[in-house]
Amino acid sequence: MKTIALLSQKGGSGKTTISLNLAIAATLKGESAVVIDLDPQQSAARWSRLRSADAPVILPGHGPNLADLIARARDGGADLVIIDTAPKSESTSLIAAKLADLVLIPCQPSNLDLDAIADTVNIATLAGTPATFVLNNCRASSGLADQAEEALAGYRLPIAPVRLGNRVAYVKSLADGQGVLEHEPRGRAAHEITQLFGAICKQVRL
Ligand SMILES: Nc1ncnc2c1ncn2[C@@H]1O[C@H](COP(=O)(O)OP(=O)(O)OP(=O)(O)O)[C@@H](O)[C@H]1O
Ligand SMILES: [Mg+2]
Repeated sequence: MKTIALLSQKGGSGKTTISLNLAIAATLKGESAVVIDLDPQQSAARWSRLRSADAPVILPGHGPNLADLIARARDGGADLVIIDTAPKSESTSLIAAKLADLVLIPCQPSNLDLDAIADTVNIATLAGTPATFVLNNCRASSGLADQAEEALAGYRLPIAPVRLGNRVAYVKSLADGQGVLEHEPRGRAAHEITQLFGAICKQVRL
């Protein structure tokens, strides 16, 4: 079993969107995925209530019981645990990062996100867990994602080989209790998530 934590102290960078879509990608591959929702806003848990399918399992949690929840997922035969964290939650994010095999740091190509990213990188570094940036919400041909990639290069952490575009499918699918792979399996967003999931599986050897 592998554990991936989505971390970003900046709100709205795409933690929940990426968590749920990766969990759906795993589920559609026949793997057992569990999402642990550490955000008091409970966005992931709310999303799961819109679904009729049982998978992926969403477990609401908080920092102090995170290790127990991960152990429960392992005992229950999970292949992949994805931890969706809350913004501005340094101590809980640090616990999540320490318990994860990989930290994913979503970042939008904007100065507001880039200016705030150092705090999140520091948490992953403190945890001693490998971390990778994921550029999210990228507008085609704006050049902003290229600039963001240059700025992120200063942190000496890998950047996921797949950028997620600014696409309505990400918003609409979650509103319907789905992931983009269910909502529009042949769409661009679905393709991006498949590619991202493949790259992450390779990185953590899932
Ligand atoms: N690639 C994308 N294209 C279009 N919209 C997106 C994309 N990624 C995320 N969004 C939208 O941006 C908003 C914030 O995304 P999300 O909730 O996943 O971020 P978050 O990091 O989990 O936020 P929070 O810090 O509040 O938990 C949501 O409305 C989501 O639908
Ligand atoms: Mg969220």
